[in-house]
Amino acid sequence: MNDRVYIFDTTLRDGEQSPGCSMTVPEKLRMAAKLVELGVDILEAGFPIASDGDFEAVDAISREFPEARVAALARACTLDVERAARSLERCKKARIHTFIATSDIHLKYKLRKSRQQVLDEAAAAVELARRHVDDVEFSAEDATRTDPDYLEQISIATVEAGAGTVNLPDTVGFSIPSEHAQLIGRMVESFGDRAIVSVHCHDDLGLAVANSLAAVQAGARQVECTINGVGERAGNCSLEEIVMAMRVRSELLPFETAIVSEQLYPASQLLTELISFGPQPNKAIVGENAFAHEAGIHQDGYLKERTTYEIMEPTTVGVPRSRLVLGKHSGRHALNQRCADLGFQLNREELDEVYKRFTALADRKKGVRNEEIAEIVRQVAGKLQPAGD
Ligand code: KIV
Ligand code: ZN
Repeated sequence: MNDRVYIFDTTLRDGEQSPGCSMTVPEKLRMAAKLVELGVDILEAGFPIASDGDFEAVDAISREFPEARVAALARACTLDVERAARSLERCKKARIHTFIATSDIHLKYKLRKSRQQVLDEAAAAVELARRHVDDVEFSAEDATRTDPDYLEQISIATVEAGAGTVNLPDTVGFSIPSEHAQLIGRMVESFGDRAIVSVHCHDDLGLAVANSLAAVQAGARQVECTINGVGERAGNCSLEEIVMAMRVRSELLPFETAIVSEQLYPASQLLTELISFGPQPNKAIVGENAFAHEAGIHQDGYLKERTTYEIMEPTTVGVPRSRLVLGKHSGRHALNQRCADLGFQLNREELDEVYKRFTALADRKKGVRNEEIAEIVRQVAGKLQPAGD
């Protein structure tokens, strides 16, 4: 039996608070429905003190999806925790997620507080949250730039105050995998079975997924992540990437999640529809080109045996099927396959002529459309002269 890793989705909180990603309450409800279908374990629905819209979203999602574990974010202070608690009043499985920065740089310049003050406020916020709900998570913001001894001290204080999950964010995406694993391993050992260790990695150095995986290997059992990797600045750990890494490489990463992988692409598509941008075309798992093959050698291999160039079936992540992109790198094999898909059976001589005209056209264009291929086939079949191409 593989170890269970909990997926904490923060698309509607960390994701939503980044530029171009804000959503209305009805839009958040649509996205929440998809996240529930996807099987996320915890759904962070908003930061209720930040706006009335966030408060309403937490309340509405809690009521609409009574089986979902819904989290609301709160700074480690009475006002925020009380507001989060109120937004979760009608939630059956409520989590208050309270946080405070712990690195010296944040203490000195942002909070202007001593380590002892911050520790006391963190423990008090957790205690207050526990008076409202059974499930409390504490986050030590900027954990990866915090003195590890102090990080351990404040984390233990919050566990003793009642936190069941301690999240150690790489808030500014500064960590690298080996270092991250070492820090997380130390905290896992220190907490024992008193609390679940969670990670929340930002992608400033493009390492959010690698750092999260290293943390899981070191004993973290909750990963905070977002659809399409949206989130502050360069974004958060991408949900689809970490889940599929654990699934595709399960022999080396023996961990289970409850994610219904066939819902990954539909979730990505829905988010794209709701916010102002989609994933880049070459984004792993959900990008437009993630299962597209253009080079002739690749297309030939793929058509002979899919696994030569594909490590997962597109349908397992909800992508309808692999795409052969016909362009100047494509070979005869792929072109013949496309002609057959379009209803044309070509003999060798016809294929040679169609291929000649196709490559001449593809040399001048980024990709050749099906209608253009069909037109070439008709010209060749009708023994027309090259159309001056
Ligand atoms: O990046 C971060 O530190 C956060 C916390 C509030 C969890 O988003
Ligand atoms: Zn964050």
